[in-house]
Amino acid sequence: MCLSALPKKTRESYMAIDIDKIYADTPGKKNVIHFNNAGSSLMPRPVLDAQIAHLKLEANIGGYEAMAHKQDQIKEVYRSIATLIGAHSSEIAIVENATVGWAMGFYAIDFKPGDRILTVEAEYASNYVAYLHMAKEKGVSIEVIPSGEDGNLCIDILENMIDENVKLISATHIPTNSGLVNTVAELGKVARKHDILFLVDACQSIGQMPVNVDEIGCDMLSATSRKYLRGPRGVGFLYVRKSVIEKLHPPIVDLRSAIWEDPGTYTLHPDARRFENWENNYAAILGFGAAVDYALNIGLENIQKRIDQLAINLRSKLKAIDGITTHTISKNQCGIVTFHINGHKASDIVDQLRKKHINTSVSEPRSTLLDANKNKLPDLVRASVHYYNDEEEIEQFINVLRGLI
Ligand SMILES: Cc1ncc(COP(=O)(O)O)c(C=O)c1O
Repeated sequence: MCLSALPKKTRESYMAIDIDKIYADTPGKKNVIHFNNAGSSLMPRPVLDAQIAHLKLEANIGGYEAMAHKQDQIKEVYRSIATLIGAHSSEIAIVENATVGWAMGFYAIDFKPGDRILTVEAEYASNYVAYLHMAKEKGVSIEVIPSGEDGNLCIDILENMIDENVKLISATHIPTNSGLVNTVAELGKVARKHDILFLVDACQSIGQMPVNVDEIGCDMLSATSRKYLRGPRGVGFLYVRKSVIEKLHPPIVDLRSAIWEDPGTYTLHPDARRFENWENNYAAILGFGAAVDYALNIGLENIQKRIDQLAINLRSKLKAIDGITTHTISKNQCGIVTFHINGHKASDIVDQLRKKHINTSVSEPRSTLLDANKNKLPDLVRASVHYYNDEEEIEQFINVLRGLI
C-alpha cells in the first residue's frame, strides 16, 4: 500500500494503528474481502489461539478441570469487558449472546399494567417484539421517540413524553442497517434527570467506537462478541449498574444466579452473576477476552477514526454509481453502509459477491420495521467495514459491483 498516494485523513487513520501487524494477525484477509463485520468479523490470531488452546486443554485434562485451571484468566475477561465500557467487573454478566443479555435485563424489570416503554424508530426487531410481548402479558404501552428529518432523536419531544408511568427508556445505539448512530447519551441525560431505567442495545457499537456506560448514562447495556469486537460467536454480555442490580430479578434462576441454602428459599447473587447461568463455552469466553484486549490495545478512538474514513470512502464511491441508492438517515454515521441497486434483488447481489469472495449481507425491512416502513425501504445490501479493511478492497468491491449491474 502506497501511503503517500492517500488523502491526509486516510493516511493519518492508517498511521494511528499498526496496520501491517493487524493484517498479519488476520488470516481470513488472504481469502476474502470481508465487509460483513456487522454480521460477524474476521477473528484475529490471538482470539483464535486463545480458543484453540482452551479446547485442547479441555480435551487433555477435562472440561471442568480446564475451567478450574484457567480461573484467573476467566476473571480477567470480566475485567477486560468492564474496562472496555468503563464499568466494574461485578456489573458484567457473560451470557450466550446479545439477545440473551438484553432479555435477561429487560425481563428482570417488574412491569405493571399502564407502565410505558419509550423506544426509538430504528429499534432492533428482537427488542421490539419483546416490548410487544410485554404489552400482551402485562398491559404496558410502547411509544416511539420520533426522529427528525435529519435522522436525529427529538429530545425536546422526549422531554414532553415523560411522566411518572414511564418505566423504561430503551434504545438501540447503532441499528443493524443504515449506519445511523443514535445519540444515546442524550437519552441518558433525560433518563438520569427523571430517574428512569435506561437500557441500551450496543450490539453494533461495541468494538466499533468508544462506548462508556457513564457517558451514556445507562443502567443496562447488552452487546455481543462476534461483531465489531472480532470475538468468537456464541458469547455476549450484559452490563447492569450496581445501583439497580438489587432491584432486578432475573427472569430465570439457576444454581449460578441464585444460592440455595435453605430448602424453602433462595438468595440471588448480589452482583451481575445473577443474570448468568451455569453452563458456558469457556473457549469462547477466553476468545472473547482476547478480542476485547486486542481492541483495547489498538484503541477504540483509533478504530472509530479508521472505520469512519473507510465508510465515507465507500459511501461516496457507491453514490457515484448510477442506479445505486445508499440508505443514510443521519449525518451521524458509522461503518455500516446499506444500499439498494435498481432492478436487482439484494440477496442476488450478496450471492454473486460471495462467489467472488466478497462478503456482504442482506438487511431486511423486518429487522428495523418502524424505520423501514417510514422510509419505504426494500431489502438492502449491507457492506460493513472494519479497521482491517482498506481502500484497495473498497476499489475491488466497487469494480466487481459495477460488473454485476
Ligand atoms: C442491533 C442489534 N441488536 C441485537 C442483535 C442480536 O445480537 P445476537 O445475535 O448476538 O443475539 C443484533 C444482531 O444482529 C443487532 O444488530
